[in-house]
Amino acid sequence: MNNYDFDQIAVEMKGITQKFGSLVANDNIDLTVHKGEVHALLGENGAGKTTLVNSLYGLYHPTSGDIFINGEKVVMDTPNVAIGHGIGMVHQHFMLIKPFTVVENIILGKETHKHGVLDMERATKEVMELSERYGLTIDPTACIQDITVGMQQRVEILKTLYRGADILILDEPTAVLTPQEILDLIKIINNLTDQGKTIIIITHKLKEIKDVADFCTIIRRGKKIDTVKVADVSESDLASMMVGREVSFKVDKEESEPGDIVLEVNDLHVKDNRDIPAVEGLSLKVRRGEILGIAGVDGNGQNELVDALTGIRKAESGEVLVNGNNILGLNPRGILDHKVSTIPQDRQKRGLVLEYSIAENIIIENYKKAPFSRKGWLNFPAIREYARKLVKEFDVRPDDENYISGSLSGGNQQKVIIAREISNNPDLLIAVQPTRGLDVGAIEYVHKALVAQRDKGKAVLLISLELDEVINVSDRIGVIYEGKIVGEVKAEGADENEIGLMMAGGSNS
Ligand SMILES: Nc1ncnc2c1ncn2[C@@H]1O[C@H](COP(=O)(O)OP(=O)(O)OP(=O)(O)O)[C@@H](O)[C@H]1O
Ligand SMILES: [Mg+2]
Repeated sequence: MNNYDFDQIAVEMKGITQKFGSLVANDNIDLTVHKGEVHALLGENGAGKTTLVNSLYGLYHPTSGDIFINGEKVVMDTPNVAIGHGIGMVHQHFMLIKPFTVVENIILGKETHKHGVLDMERATKEVMELSERYGLTIDPTACIQDITVGMQQRVEILKTLYRGADILILDEPTAVLTPQEILDLIKIINNLTDQGKTIIIITHKLKEIKDVADFCTIIRRGKKIDTVKVADVSESDLASMMVGREVSFKVDKEESEPGDIVLEVNDLHVKDNRDIPAVEGLSLKVRRGEILGIAGVDGNGQNELVDALTGIRKAESGEVLVNGNNILGLNPRGILDHKVSTIPQDRQKRGLVLEYSIAENIIIENYKKAPFSRKGWLNFPAIREYARKLVKEFDVRPDDENYISGSLSGGNQQKVIIAREISNNPDLLIAVQPTRGLDVGAIEYVHKALVAQRDKGKAVLLISLELDEVINVSDRIGVIYEGKIVGEVKAEGADENEIGLMMAGGSNS
């Protein structure tokens, strides 16, 4: 931040237009990025941010427009051309090879040889030098599958630096990170720009833009709205420029009126992938008409809890009752039949079949039921009508139920899952990081939708790493620490510091 040089333009995109059939994803966009600056791209889900940076990295070929790197016009035919011009990109879905080590992944495709033999020692030394220089802490010999998401991301960044990148594109790097890892990444970005690197970053979090970026370009429905100096604007200015209206960050809701118990978890024990206890004697209750939020630092058993509740992972012992019936040991389908819906954390792995249309994904859990099926035949008009209604209601863009889900922007994929799960009319809705990757307008909508479910008498279990979200949306908050609920507070008027202390293992008494 604040290291840019106004006399040197690193990236200039002029009049970039990108069409996909009749859809104009980028409409005559100009972008100027100075050397050494952090430039944020902000826009609603589907606005065209990823498309724009994909063109800069040679993954897409714009229908029209020109790209200049350090003043030289470049036709970005392939990512290799982009890399040759010092551009590196870290995608939101990492592209690392799991069984390989950190160093192997970094040098892959650019190996150093000595007498025809791979010079691992020298490569490791070079990688470690880069790692120290930019504060990118890694364990060079660890396998990718055993390291945290934060470290995997550092490996991706090192990989671009190892290939000589001076201009780094980061597409929603913080969406997959824990709050602590986000602080680390901001430090790394500052180190990079201190040493003359240029950063283009996409994020939906306005606070991060304020914290790290010098300039911000706002894109709305494929068009550039403006480029602003971040120091001159507030978070709500940014939000209204992006959405075209005022956005409320506060969730309005009435006092909850809890009814019968829907979910009851007693003394649950679940192990993680490495066979180590992750959930250790956890108990909780969620009633009709209330939202129980689970706050906690990542890695305290949240994932294993959700996996056990949804039938993806076997529990060691304990009891999980839904409306009084034990569901532990049932498979995901069986649990669904108990009227439990889940908004999963990983939309690409568990949420959607990317090759299917929006409509197909929307009825994927219910296609055998009326009205979607009649005498064993699929009732396409009914399916399309239902899907069209949800697409409108949840503002999925483009609003075309026949659109292939894999072509949707990340945030719009998330909206399709949320639309499907909420509309299943569950008794219990489990929402795991439901607003990850969503723009502020969509977050506002999803939060309202969760509260509306509550008001309809559903039980909602919200699990999120974002404390703001938990405090804002929930009625009660349970704090998870080392696999147990260690404290509970009312969300109304909750003290962030008190919760933070419990999250770190301190007591609330
Ligand atoms: N390969 C593709 N084929 C067809 N349509 C595409 C393709 N890539 C993107 N689109 C469409 O272009 C538009 C812009 O998508 P893009 O991924 O750039 O959005 P985004 O601003 O990155 O959104 P998000 O914040 O949700 O990631 C969307 O309507 C999307 O569906
Ligand atoms: Mg995107």
